[in-house]
Parts: sequence; structure tokens; C-alpha cells
Amino acid sequence: MPKFRPEIEDLSPYKVGRQMEDVAREHGLDPDEIVKLTANEGPEGPFPGVVEAASAVLAQSNRYPDNACWDIGHALAGEEGIEFENLLFGAGSVALLAEIAVATTGPGTNIVYGWPSFVMYRFAAIWAGAATREVPLDPVHALDLDAMRQAIDENTRIVVICNPNNPTGTITPADEIEAFIDSIPEEVLVVVDEAYHEYVVDPAYRTEIPLAVSRPNVVVLRTFSKIYGLAAHRVGYAIAREDVLVELRKAQAPLTVGQVGQTAALASLGQHEELTRRRDDNTRRRHHLVGALRERDITMAESHTNFIYFELGDRYLDLVERMTGYGVLIRPMNPGWVRVTIGNDDENRRFLDSLDSALA
Ligand SMILES: Cc1ncc(COP(=O)(O)O)c(C=O)c1O
Repeated sequence: MPKFRPEIEDLSPYKVGRQMEDVAREHGLDPDEIVKLTANEGPEGPFPGVVEAASAVLAQSNRYPDNACWDIGHALAGEEGIEFENLLFGAGSVALLAEIAVATTGPGTNIVYGWPSFVMYRFAAIWAGAATREVPLDPVHALDLDAMRQAIDENTRIVVICNPNNPTGTITPADEIEAFIDSIPEEVLVVVDEAYHEYVVDPAYRTEIPLAVSRPNVVVLRTFSKIYGLAAHRVGYAIAREDVLVELRKAQAPLTVGQVGQTAALASLGQHEELTRRRDDNTRRRHHLVGALRERDITMAESHTNFIYFELGDRYLDLVERMTGYGVLIRPMNPGWVRVTIGNDDENRRFLDSLDSALA
């Protein structure tokens, strides 16, 4: 048996949620009837024209993908008003996060982030050999930037700001993030994870891309996995200054984004009406679900995203299991709390019906 690093031996692998086929078999359900609301995926497929564009490149599967991501990079740079050199693509923003941790941390260093937040921050730190500093959220389930500032010491290499925060859906106002960045040492890299950026409509929220292209210690992460409906293809990107990306790129395996994913992402860009429609649909459905949960006297965090974090109390694991038995999958999170991804109208109806049946 090879010798593994003790922190890897102690790690439980990331749980991606149960496969629909497993659940169907266990509960005697038809897999097509199962409603999966566990992974914050968009309820729709790719944008119009994307399947056709992506299918066409399958014929060139014998060729390696474009390592520079030239076409998608230039299109995205134009759309965001930045330079091609400010972009680094990766196999989902999760992979970029791990590469950033490998490039900037290691034994003796630490990474600061809120908790609960996206569990992959913990994994990225452990893989890189760094310590984790998990700073509890404030009483309304939002990041506590003052406490995060206090958690920084001379060994901190990264602070991750998940905005909006997964799993709570809360936002941190841009003014507060910018004041926070001004107040911490320049050697600390601030990674602003904007995976759910496209869903947010609150004016207090702003992207930190302008800071990322001007300051050396800010990186923004984005993804095509959510509103663009391309989670299967693993296309994420980091936005930062060119000199910062030159270093980060050294910690990345080559040819990391496949050509189907690059082509699918490219075909999705520029479809502003489709993007707005999906955002508006999500906002309308979120208001509906928030209202329905309130009617049931359920406590929840204020969501600005395509998921809602709410409290089910001591019975939460049992209730989630009962809902699974009705074919509706939601995700247990912290003790007493669960997260549901906002689905389409039909899926949301199934969610509420199964919640009522489980609670009855
Ligand atoms: C906060 C956050 N960042 C990143 C990701 C992952 O994105 P990707 O599919 O690009 O790896 C997720 C997905 O759930 C997320 O919640």
C-alpha cells in the first residue's frame, strides 16, 4: 500500500448528491419522475443553438482542445469589457479554486472563508496542505467580514468571499467587500466566488471584476454551470490581472477545458434576452417559494440566488428522507437546515407537496 498524506486519508470524498437511479431503485420509483433539487443546477438545458454548435465539434474529437481558449476568451472579454489576458479558464470554477490554492498556499499557511459556505473551499485547502479558518456567518446567515478580517494572520494566503454565499443565498454588499479588501494586507489574495452572479437583482450587489483587473490581490471566479445550463461540460473562469494569471497558470494541467465545453460556452454568449428571461423566471419562482415557506412558518435565509436555505429543525434528516421517498431530492446541510434548488414550476409544486406530506 502506498503512503498517503494523513490529511488525505482523513478526508471523506466530496458528496455530489445521490444518483437519481440509486434513489429510484431504493424507493421503487420511476427515475423520470424524480425531481432533483440538490445541486443548484438550472432547471433548463443549454441556451438556444448551443446543442447544435457543440454537437458539430464532436466530429473533431481526435484533436486536443484549444489550450488558450482563444474563441471563448475573446468573446467573453468583449462581453465583460476586459482583456483576453485577464481570463483563465478551468474545468469548472472548482478546479480553478484548487489550482489557486496550490499556487499560493501550502503547509504552514491558511485559507479564511465563511461557514457555512461552499464546502469545496475546505477541500481546496486540504489538497494544498493549508489549514482552514472557517468563520461563522452572522445571525442573518451572511458573511461576517469583520470576523473574517480578525481571522487573518501573517500565514493567511487566501480569503474566499462567496458572493452570493452558497448554501445560504445571502449577498454581501459590494461597498463592504471593497472596504474589506482595502483593510487587509496586499499579500492576501481575495478570491470572490461569483458562481451565482447572473441571478442577483439587488442593487447592493456588484461584481468585483473591476477590482480584479486592477488590483494584484483580487481574483473573481465565474462559471457556465448555473444559469447557462452547462454544468456537464465543466467550464469556469478566473478573472484577474495578467501578471497574476501568469503565475496561477503554472499550477494548472494543460488542455483542461474540452472543446465541446468551449464551443457550448461560446454559443451561449450574447444571448441577453435568454439570460434575462431565465433570471426573471428564477426571481418569480423564488418569490413564490419564499411566500409558500413563510405561509408554513418556516425560517429561511434571504436568498438572492436559485436556491433557498431553510430550517426544518431536529427532524431535518428524517424529513429529507421522507421527501426522497416521494421522489423529491433536497440537500441536508448544517444540523437542522436544508437547501432546495429552485426548479421549474412543476418541480417546485412537487417540492411543496412532498414537504407538506413529509411534515404531516
Ligand atoms: C459557490 C460555488 N462556487 C463554484 C461552484 C462550482 O462551479 P463549477 O461547476 O464551475 O465548478 C458551485 C457549484 O455548486 C458553487 O456553489
